[in-house]
Amino acid sequence: MSKKVIVTGGCGYIGSHTILEMIENTDFEPICIDNNINSSPKAMDRIEKITGKRVKHYAIDLCDAKATEKVFKENSDAVAIIHFAALKAVGESVEIPLEYYNNNLSSLSNVLRFTHQYGIDNFIFSSSCSLYGNVSELPVSEETPLNTPESPYANTKKIGEEIIQDYVKVSNVKAISLRYFNPVGAHASGLIGEDPINKPNNLVPVVTAVASGKMEKLTVFGDDYDTRDGSCIRDYIHVTDIARAHISAVNFLLEGKQESNYDVLNLGTGNGVTVIELIKAFEKVAQLKLNYVIGERRGGDVVAVYSDNTKVSQYLQWTPEYGIENMMETAWKWQQNLNKEA
Ligand code: WQD
Repeated sequence: MSKKVIVTGGCGYIGSHTILEMIENTDFEPICIDNNINSSPKAMDRIEKITGKRVKHYAIDLCDAKATEKVFKENSDAVAIIHFAALKAVGESVEIPLEYYNNNLSSLSNVLRFTHQYGIDNFIFSSSCSLYGNVSELPVSEETPLNTPESPYANTKKIGEEIIQDYVKVSNVKAISLRYFNPVGAHASGLIGEDPINKPNNLVPVVTAVASGKMEKLTVFGDDYDTRDGSCIRDYIHVTDIARAHISAVNFLLEGKQESNYDVLNLGTGNGVTVIELIKAFEKVAQLKLNYVIGERRGGDVVAVYSDNTKVSQYLQWTPEYGIENMMETAWKWQQNLNKEA
C-alpha cells in the first residue's frame, strides 16, 4: 500500500514539523504542496539537512483548481491528506478580510473536491481554538458552544469546519478537525522552527526576537485582566506534540477507528499559562532578563482560554509530552540558529 500523505502548507511552521515527524518516526511519504505565500521553501532544505531526505514539493496555489487537480492526479495513490495551508494572522485578517475568505475557503473547497474525486478519503483539517471566542466556562471542551469568532481568520476556520461537515455527507471523505490552541517551540535539533515572513505578531517569536536583539522590547498587552497575575492566559502546546497528534489522527482514520464521518478534537495541553509566567519560564531557561514593558490591552484578545483535552487523549491515545520550559528552550535554540542563518 502506498504510504503517501499529502501535506498542504508543508513549508509552514506546523506543516514542516509534521513532515519532519513523519520522516523521523513513520514510514509515511510526505508530499508537500505550498505556494510559499506565507512560508519559505527553505523549510524543505532544513528538513533535508536534518533527515537527509528531499521531500517532493509542489509550489502551486491551491486556489488554482487546474494546478491543484494536476498534483492530486499525480498522487492519487496517497492514503491521506493533512490540510494546513491557510492565511492565519488574526490581526491581518481584520485588515484584509476578503483575501482571507477567498484564500482559505477556495483552497479548502478545491482540496476537498479532489480528495474525494481521487479517492484519498482521509482528511485532517487544521482548525483553531479561536473558534470558541471569549468563553464563560473553562477549560474548553469540544462541546463548548462556539461564540462569535473574534476575527475573519477564526471565521474562516468556523466556516471551513461547516463546509467539511456538509461535504462528508455527500462523499466518501472521512474527516477530523484538529483545533489547535497556541503552538510554540521548535524541533529538538533547533534547525527548524517558526520563521515568520514579516514582523512576528505571536508572543513567543517576539520573546525570542527581543532576547536575541532582533527587536528592542516586548510589550505585554495588558496586566489588568481578571487573572492570577493580570495577564492573559493561553494553552501553549509544543509544535512537536501537535505534529505527533496529526500523525496519530491519520492512523486513526486509516485504521478505520472513526465511528462517524466527521469529528472535532481539541489539541491543547489542558494547562493555562499567563503571559508573565511564560516570560519567567523563558528567562529561566535562557538565563537572561527579558526587556519587556506593560502596555495597553490588544483588541480581540480573549482573557483566558485553555483546553479540556480528554477527548483527543482517548481517541488518539495521544498525550502532550513537553512542558513550557522545553517549549521555551527549543524556541530559543531555534532563534539563535535562525540568527546565524541570516
Ligand atoms: C498570546 C498572548 C497576547 C504578543 C494565536 C494565533 C491563532 C490561534 C491561537 C491557531 C495574548 C500576548 C502577544 C505580544 C503580548 N492559533 N502578547 N505581546 O492571540 O492567542 O492567537 O493562537 O490557530 O492563530 O494567533 O496568540 O501569541 O498572538 O498572543 O502580550 O507582543 O500573548 O495579548 O494574550 P493568540 P498570540
